[in-house]
Amino acid sequence: MDKLRIMSVFGTRPEAIKMAPLVRELATRPEIESLCCVTAQHRQMLDSVLEVFKLKPDWDLDIMTPRQTLSTITSKCLLGMDEAIDTLKPDMILVHGDTSTTFAGALSAFYHQVPVGHVEAGLRTYDKYSPFPEEMNRKLVSAIADLYFCPTENNRENLIREGITQGLFVTGNTVIDALRTTVRPDYRFSTEELNQLPYQEKKILLVTCHRRENYGEPMKNIMLALRQIAEENQDVELVYPVHLSPVVRESVDRYLRGAPRVHLIDPLPADEMHNLMARCYLVLTDSGGLQEEAPALGKPVLVMRRETERPEAVKAGTVKLAGVVQDDIVTMAERLIRDGDAYRAMAHAVNPYGDGNACRRIADAVVWHFGRGPKPEDYR
Ligand code: UD1
Ligand code: UDP
Repeated sequence: MDKLRIMSVFGTRPEAIKMAPLVRELATRPEIESLCCVTAQHRQMLDSVLEVFKLKPDWDLDIMTPRQTLSTITSKCLLGMDEAIDTLKPDMILVHGDTSTTFAGALSAFYHQVPVGHVEAGLRTYDKYSPFPEEMNRKLVSAIADLYFCPTENNRENLIREGITQGLFVTGNTVIDALRTTVRPDYRFSTEELNQLPYQEKKILLVTCHRRENYGEPMKNIMLALRQIAEENQDVELVYPVHLSPVVRESVDRYLRGAPRVHLIDPLPADEMHNLMARCYLVLTDSGGLQEEAPALGKPVLVMRRETERPEAVKAGTVKLAGVVQDDIVTMAERLIRDGDAYRAMAHAVNPYGDGNACRRIADAVVWHFGRGPKPEDYR
């Protein structure tokens, strides 16, 4: 029997981190030929992940341009995917999450009548413009997909409420699979500055910020809040690997650079980031992925957004929504810096997002879909 040609498509840093363990898992299956097509919606930040996880794409659309718009990303992906699909002839395409690459990858698969598996399916805020454009991307992909790999039961229920009842699997999030391969107690950073941080003497606050809906006033508020936290608390050090987006960099340069106790550094390779997170005191972020990783490492997270599509860790008590108002962010952060009881109430490891076996379940479900293996059990 011919091998099943399963093509994983991704383009940004978080998709790559979360798809890398799956591409590898698929490659171990005797029934499958695991193919990898990258759009390179992110260039440097994608290449960094490919290097950490030792992945070599079979196809690279190389679409990234500085300050790219949503329309250019989508149209360049669509045009490029035509050739990739015609040449690699996949039996199924796997996309991840909610980026423009995800949407264009799924739409292109549909145009070629190739079935689609959606990894990290069923996340919702029910606010069309927040996160923007991610909420719409994932809804549109839900309309196209054939298989839905939901990280949590809650994600599955979201899809059922929308009338999607076939092809649903609860798998856990593949990010937990990835974390299991990167975090080590004896890890030594290749970025020397990170080896030198005063992890015992001071409170290390790990910061990231990049979301499009935070561009403008909210991002300014976030930067000013970070500045105030650094200025008012001598016992903290902020470590902020700054996203390569010029819009983000301008905001950082304008409102945060020069503040005391703030380390503005380039984006970190995924293994460095995960190990830094494992050693930090607190995470301040608008990232999706960090909201999943930090709770698994027992680190409290303040989310600098108005909403979250990841309520599981909020419910578990490790994540709180801080919003995008300067005073609110400062008040919530300073409480966790100064009040040990408030901190300890949040700092416990919880794993609502998976047990590290998501990729195995997803690969099993793909094999099952083609009638070549048993149906996997859901993650509970
Ligand atoms: C994208 C995703 C977002 C995801 C985020 C993860 C969309 C619409 N947005 O947002 O869902 O949370 O990635 O980080 O799909 N750049 C570089 N080098 C890189 C990466 C980016 O220079 O390696 C710069 C480029 O100027 C690029 C800009 O950043 O034009 C923005 O990148 P883009 O992918 O459009 O948006 P993100 O904000 O990264
Ligand atoms: N990350 C990284 N280096 C960094 C910042 C983040 O490797 O300098 C990782 C982080 O650990 C997580 C993922 O990138 O796995 C999250 O990506 P991002 O915040 O860019 O996107 P989102 O998850 O919000 O879509």
